[in-house]
Amino acid sequence: MNIILLGAPGSGKGTMAQKLTGELNIPQISTGDIFRKNLKEETPLGLQIKDILNSGGLVPDEITIEIVKNRLAEPDCAHGYILDGFPRSIVQAKALDGFQRVDCAINLDVDKQTIVSRLSGRRFCPDCNGTFHVSALGGSDTCPVCGGKLITRKDDSEETVLERFRVYETTTLPLIEYYKAQGKLINIDGTGGVEAVYRRILDVLRK
Ligand code: AP5
Repeated sequence: MNIILLGAPGSGKGTMAQKLTGELNIPQISTGDIFRKNLKEETPLGLQIKDILNSGGLVPDEITIEIVKNRLAEPDCAHGYILDGFPRSIVQAKALDGFQRVDCAINLDVDKQTIVSRLSGRRFCPDCNGTFHVSALGGSDTCPVCGGKLITRKDDSEETVLERFRVYETTTLPLIEYYKAQGKLINIDGTGGVEAVYRRILDVLRK
């Protein structure tokens, strides 16, 4: 099954993708993780996109589309995948339709106040890409999955979160109508605990 996860910054796409990947045995393809890895390793791409990521803008469509196209052509994607953070613009969605079949687009619907509280408490593991919330870490800054040192993402500063929101509302939100028109949109209430949201997704996928 080829699944897209849509939703505002901090709506829980990464958290749900990580759980679904284990359940469905298909890979999670996160463009954000791919870009952060390049940033960390200071690759030519990483250096090129550093300022964009840190300011909350979008990496140019042509770069992002090429990366995703190549990644989805790898053998582990042959039986399906979960796209987390792509597409993020109508241009990207149309490009994706040109080289892949999308089965469904799951939109995580979360109000802004909840998102601000989630992002201000988010901690990230650069070693295993795990995402956690301070409320579940008991004061520890060690990754409960791999033992790595947890960090706060640079783009989770208040100013950058506001910019990511602005970009989401102008460029990414139209994708909801795009997939609705194709009959592929699944709207999920993304509020409540992680397990509650995950159950809602599984219930819909199993129908
Ligand atoms: P990306 O990493 O994709 O960032 P994003 O879309 O802003 O999404 P986030 O990772 O911030 O949030 P999320 O929805 O995954 O939520 P999470 O699960 O972490 O992209 C980063 C940057 O890369 C972009 O700004 C852009 O520059 C670039 N980029 C990426 N893709 C691109 C593209 N296609 N085109 C161009 N540029 C691109 O959850 C958030 C927090 O909430 C966590 O702490 C988590 O533990 C907690 N939480 C999650 N669910 C729940 C719940 N149900 N209850 C309580 N807490 C919860």
